[in-house]
Amino acid sequence: MITKYISKNISFVFFLEFCILFRITESYGTCSEIRGRCESRIGCSMALHTFGIACDDLTSGISEECTKQCQRALVSLISSENGAGMDFINCECGEGNSMEIRHCEEKKQRVQVCATDVINAWKSMDDPSVVISCTLALWLCEADSSCLTALNYFTENCSNLMKGRQCSSRCNNSMNILYQQKQAQKLHTCNCEGTEIGFDCSKMRKYTDVLCHNKTATYRQVGNHVDGNGATSFYFLTVPRGINDLLIVILLIVLNCLMS
Ligand SMILES: *[C@@H]1O[C@H](CO)[C@@H](O)[C@H](O)[C@H]1NC(C)=O
Ligand SMILES: *[C@@H]1O[C@H](CO)[C@@H](O)[C@H](O)[C@H]1NC(C)=O
Ligand SMILES: *[C@@H]1O[C@H](CO)[C@@H](O)[C@H](O)[C@H]1NC(C)=O
Repeated sequence: MITKYISKNISFVFFLEFCILFRITESYGTCSEIRGRCESRIGCSMALHTFGIACDDLTSGISEECTKQCQRALVSLISSENGAGMDFINCECGEGNSMEIRHCEEKKQRVQVCATDVINAWKSMDDPSVVISCTLALWLCEADSSCLTALNYFTENCSNLMKGRQCSSRCNNSMNILYQQKQAQKLHTCNCEGTEIGFDCSKMRKYTDVLCHNKTATYRQVGNHVDGNGATSFYFLTVPRGINDLLIVILLIVLNCLMS
């Protein structure tokens, strides 16, 4: 009974993984049709674009390694809205022996090395206890049109938060709307790895904790500075331990004075 259940499950997983190799009868359309469908949705289109960049070395044959970035791009692509990205993974290159079709088959073949890791990551997506990297969390959100819109509002309305100045009600609103998005759930708990592109993940989290949620317990404000526009900048430091921290505090206060 149990083994039957497991083997059923596994065949589902393998279905995703190997349908490309085993030509499952169910037709999803050709790759170019599916690409067209995906590109007509902004989120899926974004995920496809990210995949193109992150997996370029692999799909073009420069490398045979499925890098972390490429794995994440694939997870984001197959998670994108309404299965649009999933269909893409399952697509068929088409009949014939044209240059385009051969190129498509080659690409698909090369991406196969990613299958196991990607499927495992994708399976754990719905498990709230699984912490993922913030890059992937961001890509998951970007792969969904409404999450992407919320993310864009957030970026627009929270520029002062990103600078550590303030959490305006406009910004806080945008953030709350963003976190209500299903595809943004992992953004709450994701792991800042320091390799995020375009933003400072751990600073962002720190500013959000302190400025928006008043979680000052783990951070301490060591000074503030009012700039020309009357906005206040805060400098935070984790709870001091000993003399070194005292020196840093003094240094920051001195810096503050110099800057004002
Ligand atoms: C965020 O900014 C956009 C565009 O500037 C605006 O349309 C939107 O209403 C803002 N969101 C909030 C919650 O204020
Ligand atoms: C931001 O929104 C949260 C959730 O509604 C609220 O608890 C918090 O007090 C708000 N913070 C600011 C600074 O407005
Ligand atoms: C933040 O929390 C502290 C206690 O931890 C409290 O004294 C302070 O009034 C709070 N500030 C806001 C704006 O809620």
